[in-house]
Amino acid sequence: MSRYFALIPAAGTGSRMGADCPKQYLPLLGQPLIAHTLQALAREPRIEKIIVVLAPDDEQWQSHHWSGWQGRVETLRCGGASRAESVLNGLDAMAAWCADDDWVLVHDAARPCLPRSALARLIDEAGEDAVGGLLAVPVADTLKRADQQGRVATTEPRAGLWQAQTPQMFRHGMLRQALAAAGNDVTDDASAIEKAGLHPLLVEADSRNLKVTYPRDLQLAELILEHLDD
Ligand code: CTP
Ligand code: MG
Repeated sequence: MSRYFALIPAAGTGSRMGADCPKQYLPLLGQPLIAHTLQALAREPRIEKIIVVLAPDDEQWQSHHWSGWQGRVETLRCGGASRAESVLNGLDAMAAWCADDDWVLVHDAARPCLPRSALARLIDEAGEDAVGGLLAVPVADTLKRADQQGRVATTEPRAGLWQAQTPQMFRHGMLRQALAAAGNDVTDDASAIEKAGLHPLLVEADSRNLKVTYPRDLQLAELILEHLDD
């Protein structure tokens, strides 16, 4: 039986947020943002362990209380210069206690509003797949390509386009190999798998699973969390 692990890259600086600490530690409903992310993953009983990749010089993690999480959450201080490097370093370190064919769900620390039902659906559907898959949302808006002057150059067809979210779920050995080969410029895990010539499964989610990126996203995330009932 394959096992399921969650890997949370949390070694970014949150430059677009422009706060005086990395966005994963900003308060959301009275708790650090990343605590909500951990809770969202911990609600899923099939996830055996949640591994958090911190920056080597992170000074914020230990200033919060994590005693209730003992046994379920592990931290690794092996964050790298890019998300891809942080994930790869985490996968390397995890090899000590997980098998090549165990599933790893890579989930951004910056997505605290992951609905329980979407997470369960990802595990149900991608867990039956030879490659694995990711949560994603079909594009709803009309898409414009800009010219150099900030005017519309063309309208792009949106049929068949999806916005990728996380978690993205792949087998440990396959993802490790793919990320090592893909280099640093991939912005998600599925891209590395695609570069290896494989086609990850798209599992439909919704826009509540937003990535907190800009200051205005904090209020939206609080509103979503207050009303998240699935
Ligand atoms: N991340 C990471 N290591 C990096 C860069 C990013 O672990 N070197 C993590 C972030 O902490 C975040 C996730 O990858 O949980 C998605 O990245 P993003 O939303 O871009 O976060 P930041 O890189 O921190 O933000 P910004 O790009 O605005 O600086
Ligand atoms: Mg970033």
